[in-house]
Amino acid sequence: MDAKEYLMKTSKEVDGPIKSYIPDEEPMRLIEASRRYPYAGGKRMRPAMVLAACGAVGGDRKKAMPLAVAIEYIHNFTLIHDDYMDGDSKRRGMTTIHVDYGMPTAILAGDALFAKAFQIIAELDVDGEKLREVLRYVTKAVWDLARGQEMDTANEGQLVSEEVYIETIRLKTSVLFAAAAAGGAIVGGADKKTVEAINEYAMALGLGFQIFDDYLGICGDSSKTGKSVGNDIRKGKCTILITHAMSHIKDPKIMAEFKGILGNMDATEEQIARAREILTESGSIEYARKTAQKKVDEAISKIKFLKPSEEKEFMIALAQYAINRDV
Ligand code: IPE
Ligand code: IPE
Ligand code: MG
Ligand code: MG
Repeated sequence: MDAKEYLMKTSKEVDGPIKSYIPDEEPMRLIEASRRYPYAGGKRMRPAMVLAACGAVGGDRKKAMPLAVAIEYIHNFTLIHDDYMDGDSKRRGMTTIHVDYGMPTAILAGDALFAKAFQIIAELDVDGEKLREVLRYVTKAVWDLARGQEMDTANEGQLVSEEVYIETIRLKTSVLFAAAAAGGAIVGGADKKTVEAINEYAMALGLGFQIFDDYLGICGDSSKTGKSVGNDIRKGKCTILITHAMSHIKDPKIMAEFKGILGNMDATEEQIARAREILTESGSIEYARKTAQKKVDEAISKIKFLKPSEEKEFMIALAQYAINRDV
């Protein structure tokens, strides 16, 4: 199955609902800021995951649509705040919210989307116990995400171990994928064991996704990713490529050169290109890609037991897509 094509189909399905929950209200400036990312699109992997997990356990996808919207809003809220925290100026091919609207409106636009998400979840068409279960997963995810983001920013300019890096990305990225998948499965009526397996699938997928994202952040094409490329190096962000490079660059002269670029906010495009070359020579790029593949294989193994369905096929294809994309 072609995950990209299926994702595009799902995007069409969710775009309308995503646009339908933010009414015109005063002050419109805040509403416009809140709408920018949800309306701009993006890959829509998380809402697709909600719908797929629901369908894969035999549920009615339509019932999970509001949750798909809510998860995308939560994702978008974290992106607005993340861009401010990271000082990035591009997202989804557009100027970031804090750059155009200023910090106060960016914080509020994020808060507003966050609140709207839970307003939508409160109205899910499921019984009380299922609703509570969905809320447990989603609230835990946002809590953990905050912990992960705190670790992520604290790690800037520090050399951390690969274990700490993995724990950071588990918290900042995987947990929301996991809540999307588990939430979809709960709405679809899955038993606890199935929900847990699907949760584990998405958790491992999220790790592969973020490792690959960190690779793209250094080796990607900004015109395709719609985000700034090279800034992780300028900020000295300790991604898996860096943890690996620090113990695999053997030549002290090259190490000194690399350290001169890492964490240098004024590093030029040429210097970033040189850092890429060093990371290639140290095997760090290959290592990151291999590790991402391992996580994805693990993810797929968790859902082997599901009955054959188009949605299951998509969940497998989506895991592969997470680490084979240029956007
Ligand atoms: C970006 O997520 C934030 C990360 C966790 C790396 P996506 O790469 O899924 O962003 P969109 O939704 O496609 O814009
Ligand atoms: C984004 O992480 C994770 C969250 C928004 C929680 P990054 O900061 O690494 O991702 P990008 O590169 O800005 O999308
Ligand atoms: Mg960021
Ligand atoms: Mg960040």
